[in-house]
Amino acid sequence: QKGGFAHYMLKEIFEQPDAIHRAVHAVSEETLPSSLRQASSITVVACGSSYHAGMIFRYLIEPVCGIPVRLELGSEYKYTPVPFSDVIIGISQSGETADTLSAIRKGICNNVKTVAITNVLNSSITRSAHDTILMHAGPEISVAASKSFIAQVGVLMQIVNILSGGRCHDILDHARYALEQVLLTDLTEAVDLCSKAQHLFYVGRGVFYPVMMEGALKMKEISYIHAEAYAAGELKHGPFALLSPDTPVIAICTPGPAYEVMLGNMKEMKARGTPIVAFGNEDDGDVSDIADVVIPLPKAHMWTQVLTSTVLLQLLAYHTANRLGREIDMPRNLAKSVTVE
Ligand code: F6R
Repeated sequence: QKGGFAHYMLKEIFEQPDAIHRAVHAVSEETLPSSLRQASSITVVACGSSYHAGMIFRYLIEPVCGIPVRLELGSEYKYTPVPFSDVIIGISQSGETADTLSAIRKGICNNVKTVAITNVLNSSITRSAHDTILMHAGPEISVAASKSFIAQVGVLMQIVNILSGGRCHDILDHARYALEQVLLTDLTEAVDLCSKAQHLFYVGRGVFYPVMMEGALKMKEISYIHAEAYAAGELKHGPFALLSPDTPVIAICTPGPAYEVMLGNMKEMKARGTPIVAFGNEDDGDVSDIADVVIPLPKAHMWTQVLTSTVLLQLLAYHTANRLGREIDMPRNLAKSVTVE
């Protein structure tokens, strides 16, 4: 059943090139719900990894389409005032998360159009929302989301692509191949460092901030190492006090608007003796001069690097948890769907 893999999670990570391909084709110009086509503002509601997918969506859609996105945790949405966007997207791979379901119902009560993005046909969310987009990731057994997360991001990227008149088509066409390229990356040195740590910090800027939030969530849930993500610019506002030679930082520093400032941030961390594992473009001498360990990302468009770095962060969490002998597919205290508030 595990197809020769030691764990379902590793199998599901390796299924991601196919999952992203199916997800991108799960919605088209013709099948995109009209509420989304006409929206001038969108609210996204989700929990956990699905929330991170929603946050990536916000970073991607706003500059390309100029559509403002309000992002809410499912569990907090009930405490917010009446929704004011044209449409609510509820993202839930299981389709059963109580808090995300109640957000959809709140939208309906307030006459707001709702769209569910889910992996499960006939799940509760599909019966509640006005429209559903199925992401077609295939069954996910491991409690930790991997291919369902990448499929959520794939669907959301495709929505941005459609709303922008196909501007991102080539990037999405390339996504399957891009993921295949990184699956066999050697992470031994990074795993050596992470598996000895009790605390890890994950930092990024812009769209790579939610990518790092997802990486940290994966690490904490399957390895039980305390891992926190910060927007890199926030470190100086408090968390810097925690940096020491015993608290490795996982950073991402790829060419783009945040590149120079991230290099500066990494130098400041380095000055505190903090070991740095950096995701950077392959052959980037500036990153390798600062970092203790470099995880190379193939040079590519920023959207592609969102996908490839996500997969590498999943693999980093997986191999660290495996080194520590954790129960990877069934982490303690967690369940695959959370049906109570
Ligand atoms: C983390 C993970 C959880 C879920 C969250 C929401 O790996 O799987 O954080 O993302 O419980 O679940 P869904 O997407 O089913 O609503």
